[in-house]
Amino acid sequence: MRLPLIAGNWKMYKTVAEAAEFVQGLKPAVEDVTGAEVVVCPSFVSLEAVARELAGSKIALGAQNMYWAEEGAFTGEVSPSMLKAVGCRFVILGHSERRQHFGETDQVVNRKVKAALAAGLIPIVCVGERLEERESGSTEKVVGTQLEFSLAGLASGELAGTVMAYEPVWAIGTGRTAGAQDAQQVNNYIRSRLAARAGWEAAQKVRILYGGSVKPDNIAGLMAQPDIDGALVGGASLQVDAFAAMIRNGCRS
Ligand code: PGA
Repeated sequence: MRLPLIAGNWKMYKTVAEAAEFVQGLKPAVEDVTGAEVVVCPSFVSLEAVARELAGSKIALGAQNMYWAEEGAFTGEVSPSMLKAVGCRFVILGHSERRQHFGETDQVVNRKVKAALAAGLIPIVCVGERLEERESGSTEKVVGTQLEFSLAGLASGELAGTVMAYEPVWAIGTGRTAGAQDAQQVNNYIRSRLAARAGWEAAQKVRILYGGSVKPDNIAGLMAQPDIDGALVGGASLQVDAFAAMIRNGCRS
């Protein structure tokens, strides 16, 4: 009932020309795919060129971050309406690299989530624990707190319109993936928290992705889990062949 979502997070990789070339290769490789929605998230500078390449295809465009204000004297920032105007449907918010390197707190993420929804963008809200938190058994406490504050004040309908991504920090870019069962357990916990907040029906609509070293050969096992509705992919989304293989292997039959 939930259409799987496979999102490529290109982080700070690819020039404009490389990003456009990637899409030219990806389009024919996945044009017959109907069992998953595909999103690519290039850097800000490549959004327009990628949007142009994506015109007429089913692949959607997403950004990796944004600021919450509509406009103003915020040097270096990009607004929700700028993302909308360039053709974005999605925006990744609260990625652990933003939290770790750029000081983003749950409160900052919350303001951004609200601004994204108000602008008609679908936020992909990232949560996840660090290694020491997993090892000390506090995964659910950490993820629960991130959820509570990142999504504070959202109405049930707004919650239903978000995408969540569980990304254990220790699995990002490390080649270490959470086991499918472990990821399922946390995704299920996220859904139960959403249900407590917004009701079962709204929670059932939310796509909850898994992210962290997802590869063509482990995506099917993850997607077989009932509460894993897609993947947020970093490293393996940078090569057309690997990303296309992942999209095919990630379709729910
Ligand atoms: P990875 O990154 O696939 O390279 O682990 C995932 C992410 O950061 O979203």
